[in-house]
Amino acid sequence: MEIFKILDNGSKQLKRKNILSHQLDTEILLSEALNISREKLLVNSNTKVSSKTIDYFNKLLNRRLNKEPVATILNRKEFWSKNFSVNKNTLIPRPETELMVEKIVKIFHKKNISILDIGTGSGCILLSLLDEMNKSKGIGLDISQKAILIAKFNAKRHKLIDRAKFFRRDISNFYNNKFDLIVSNPPYIMKRDLKNLDECIKKFEPKIALDGGNDGLDVIKKVIYKSKSILKIKGTLAIEIGNEQFKKVSIILRKNKFNIKHIIKDYKENIRCIMSTLEH
Ligand SMILES: C[S@@+](CC[C@H](N)C(=O)[O-])C[C@H]1O[C@@H](n2cnc3c(N)ncnc32)[C@H](O)[C@@H]1O
Repeated sequence: MEIFKILDNGSKQLKRKNILSHQLDTEILLSEALNISREKLLVNSNTKVSSKTIDYFNKLLNRRLNKEPVATILNRKEFWSKNFSVNKNTLIPRPETELMVEKIVKIFHKKNISILDIGTGSGCILLSLLDEMNKSKGIGLDISQKAILIAKFNAKRHKLIDRAKFFRRDISNFYNNKFDLIVSNPPYIMKRDLKNLDECIKKFEPKIALDGGNDGLDVIKKVIYKSKSILKIKGTLAIEIGNEQFKKVSIILRKNKFNIKHIIKDYKENIRCIMSTLEH
């Protein structure tokens, strides 16, 4: 069967399951099965595909029909122009988080700083920052050992093991010398809202990466309290937050001697990241 026919069939099947990105996803999965780029796939749409490759493509497509995200099917996700390994034990890196990385890179570019990434998951934030700031070094922490293994793998993959260390640790039990910059994309969804998440998130992303407790602020508070003791005076805390959490989080920050310096909005104009500095 030719590429264009396979794409058409696959895309129709995904559309029937209400998968909005049905066409793009089908193209990505067929490119994977053929081991060619999406661009090459599209310019060769009349080429015939072997039955062995079609079988493999159908396996991938069936996983997508079962609502598994493309990132976990392929075991990778692009973030800040680099591929990161991901699996069901790590959150799939999100574009909103790239906005936080962008702002930090702008501010700290070329500086020699020490960075702590709390709830590092795949390591995407810390490793992207270190890749941009080649004089800096950092530590990534996560409560999940399985996530730490993936973060270490990504550090090797991007040749950053000399400057990035990863440890399995609950942030409340972490003690260290003081950092210049602490970054975190903590779990921040209210427990009662978890059941309303999209099926592909509920079924395929780790609950521990999403569950922020009854008010969504459990881990955010832990990050702020801990940062007070392990951030240098005038050091920066950059924290990603959920859609309507700005007011509550900014009150907690101010109560804990943090001075809000920047806010970062997402593409829908929601405040999704707060950057603050620790005052005396
Ligand atoms: C929203 S995910 C972020 C992952 C990654 N930083 C990213 O942006 O894609 C939150 C991460 O925090 C970790 N985590 C949850 N509670 C934690 C805690 N108390 N201490 C350290 N890490 C924690 C989870 O295992 C998860 O990997």
